[in-house]
Amino acid sequence: MMSVDEIRKDQRAQGTATILAIGTANPPHFIEQSKFPDTYFRMTHDDHMIELKKKMQRMCDKTMIRKRHMYVNEEFVEENPIIREHNAPSLDIRQDISAVLISELGKEAAEKAIKEWGQPKSKITHLICCTTMAAFLPGIDYRILKLLDLDLSVKRMMLYQQGCNGGGTVLRMAKDIVENNKGARVLIVVSEVTLIGLRGFSETDMDVLVSHSLFGDGAAALVVGADPMPGVEKPIFELISTSPTIVSDSAGAITGSIRESGLIIHIGKEVPGLIASHIEKKLIELFQPLGISDWNSIFWAIHPGGPAILDKIEATLGLKPEKLLATRHVLAEYGNMSSVTVLFALDEMRKRSIENGLKTTGDGSEWGVLFGFGPGLTIESLVLHSCDTNAPTTLNGVKD
Ligand SMILES: CC(C)(COP(=O)(O)OP(=O)(O)OC[C@H]1O[C@@H](n2cnc3c(N)ncnc32)[C@H](O)[C@@H]1OP(=O)(O)O)[C@@H](O)C(=O)NCCC(=O)NCCS
Repeated sequence: MMSVDEIRKDQRAQGTATILAIGTANPPHFIEQSKFPDTYFRMTHDDHMIELKKKMQRMCDKTMIRKRHMYVNEEFVEENPIIREHNAPSLDIRQDISAVLISELGKEAAEKAIKEWGQPKSKITHLICCTTMAAFLPGIDYRILKLLDLDLSVKRMMLYQQGCNGGGTVLRMAKDIVENNKGARVLIVVSEVTLIGLRGFSETDMDVLVSHSLFGDGAAALVVGADPMPGVEKPIFELISTSPTIVSDSAGAITGSIRESGLIIHIGKEVPGLIASHIEKKLIELFQPLGISDWNSIFWAIHPGGPAILDKIEATLGLKPEKLLATRHVLAEYGNMSSVTVLFALDEMRKRSIENGLKTTGDGSEWGVLFGFGPGLTIESLVLHSCDTNAPTTLNGVKD
């Protein structure tokens, strides 16, 4: 007869949590960043605020964003004119529509991830969903489970209001689950739709300008499991260690609150500096056990909250420009999709590694880091291990 300890040990996975598939989705409609102030001020009937529009144009020009995908367009605002107001009670309509859009976009990303994974849906044991952009009962997890026709007994977890660090948070949770439950396969679905926060302008509210200059809609889904089936499941990245933290003396730097008029976000000017001043300490803590201290020797996937964050990190650490190319590409093509964005960066990293004929999914490097930044300030950090771009691998990238 087995002892309790032996049973527990037997229930644990032997290997390291591994990303086995990634799918992404965006609404078909997008707005070019250079035209955003013109389009948006016309849409909200705020064209008379000439100086404010010019300020937003200056901001948009600095974002390094080329385009952003968004559900909300002029037609939508014509049909739902309450969205034009700066501060009108409008949460009901925002929530009702967001519930559908967030779930549908999440479903699209999940279907792509499951297709890439290539395994039957019945093998999904856990579902983790995350959104910052709405809250309802039952949650997005319930809706996505139904939309995907998953087993009703799949173990669900729902994370609301994580903000932009959420992409790192779901990976941390998935790692804990798959390494402690033999055979577990976690489907992660993260979906963000900006409708909850889009509004008309006010001469006294600069926060609206910042958030409206940066945010876009998107969803990402991943399948995570330990002990990938050799030759059947293809590892993309291994999740080696996780370390969330709250930056000291940063309270109030990024805040958000769901009010009658929707989600109100504040992003302080101090954010890039605060993040950059804490990043090296975190890197040392993460990589000292691996004997790594050259930050240009690892690959990078970080939340591109805005170009100032990337620029400050790059300058502080002396990173070569190519280190943040995948991350900057995501910012340019999609904007800041909150918790989703860093997962797009991971997808971009492995895709360009394959396209460029590199040996590993981490831009040719073996070890890498993922950072998510959000309210708190919260920094989610993960050490990643890349995998072979050509062949299925076992733990730590060693070929079978
Ligand atoms: C917003 C951003 C793109 C502007 O680029 P920049 O290189 O800083 O450009 P500037 O300093 O010339 O700023 C442009 C204008 O935006 C204003 N601005 C910049 N950051 C601001 C902020 N956080 N809040 C309010 N206004 C801001 C500036 O005052 C300036 O206004 P002005 O033209 O009237 O003087 C850049 O600051 C950025 O990437 N910020 C990080 C955003 C962030 O923290 N995101 C995290 C979300 S998770």
